Parts: sequence; structure tokens; C-alpha cells
Amino acid sequence: KRIVVLISGSGSNLQALINACAQGDIQASIVAVISNRPRVYGLERAQAAGIETQTLDHKNFAERAAFDQALKALIDSFQPDLVVLAGFMRILTAEFVQAYTGRMLNIHPSLLPAYKGVHTHQRALDDQAQIHGASVHFVTAELDAGAVVLQAEVPVFAEDTAETLAARVLVKEHRIYPQVVAWFCAERLSYQDGAAYLDGQRL
Ligand code: GRF
Repeated sequence: KRIVVLISGSGSNLQALINACAQGDIQASIVAVISNRPRVYGLERAQAAGIETQTLDHKNFAERAAFDQALKALIDSFQPDLVVLAGFMRILTAEFVQAYTGRMLNIHPSLLPAYKGVHTHQRALDDQAQIHGASVHFVTAELDAGAVVLQAEVPVFAEDTAETLAARVLVKEHRIYPQVVAWFCAERLSYQDGAAYLDGQRL
């Protein structure tokens, strides 16, 4: 299988996916890494792994729809089977998302449906949540609302800051994202009518 990964930042989830592909845990190759922000560390990680990188700076586009059209053309030039959003911090138009229905995944740092959107760790702390975590889900037009495939929980401690909590969640992200991508590439994971299926069982 062919994977295109979209990033906006440090790319630690990208690194986990690169490692899992190298180890054969994911039966696929990452054919390109695309960032909407120039010079981010994730691009260096990709280059170090010999993966083609592209930067498509959203600041060069006056309108979201024009950026999304350019992004789609770029992604499609690599003919991926799967598009993986890994810390990609852009809201995507419905038109873009619909082009990849059932073959685009995202990881979100909360136990969805709790804390959609940004600042999830601080919001969990503000609520004095006892349990927090991360979710891998199929991407739909509604933000962070697509069918959840896999979640991982972490405890929240009284002395936590948003940073310490984020670090604890990130460790879990690096386990669950490669797992889900491996399932997809092994054709064990599918999507139909808004629901995710693993080995034919609705999740
Ligand atoms: C992760 O916490 C991801 O869930 C969130 O942004 C962060 C990206 O981290 N959407 P990285 O770029 O993979 O290190």
C-alpha cells in the first residue's frame, strides 16, 4: 500500500509510522510527507528516512478552498491508498474530505467525543478529568467527528500541566496510530456508511 502523511509540526507520530513501516509492522511505504508549514521538524524526519517531502504553505492561498484544491492535486499525484493526518493542524473543506472518504485517518489527542478541536489537554485539566487519552478516527467533514477506530487512555494526575499530560498522551499515540494504519494496510479495517469495521465487525 501507498501512504501519504500530512503534517504541520514536529512529526513524532510520523516517526512512529516510519519506524513501523521499516520494521514491517505496517505493510506499506510512505511515499510522501506533505507539510502546510515550511521548515518543521517532521520534514527533517521524512528526509532522514529517504521519503519525498513537499511543502504547501497555506499562507500562499487567499482562500481555504483554493488551498484544499492544490493539496488534493498534490496528494493525488502520489496515488496513495491511504492519507494519514499526523498533527496536521488545518481544518479541511467538506469537498476535500469527501474525496478521501474511508481512506483518510486522523489522530486526535482526546478520548473522543470529548474535547474536539484544540487545547484538549488544558481543557481536560480545567475539567479535572480523571482519564484522558487519544483517538484514531476516520476523517469526515465534521471536525473530529468521524468513526473512532481505536483509543488509548492515560490517567490524569493532580500535579499535571498541559505539557506533562500531552507527553503522556503522545506515548500512547505512538502505539495506537501505527496499529490502526497496519490494520488498514492489511485490509482488516474498512469504512462503510459512517462506521468503521475491523475484521468485518463494526467498531
Ligand atoms: C499530536 O498530539 C496529535 O494528536 C495532535 O498534534 C500532535 C502532533 O504531534 N493533533 P506530532 O507532530 O506527531 O509530534
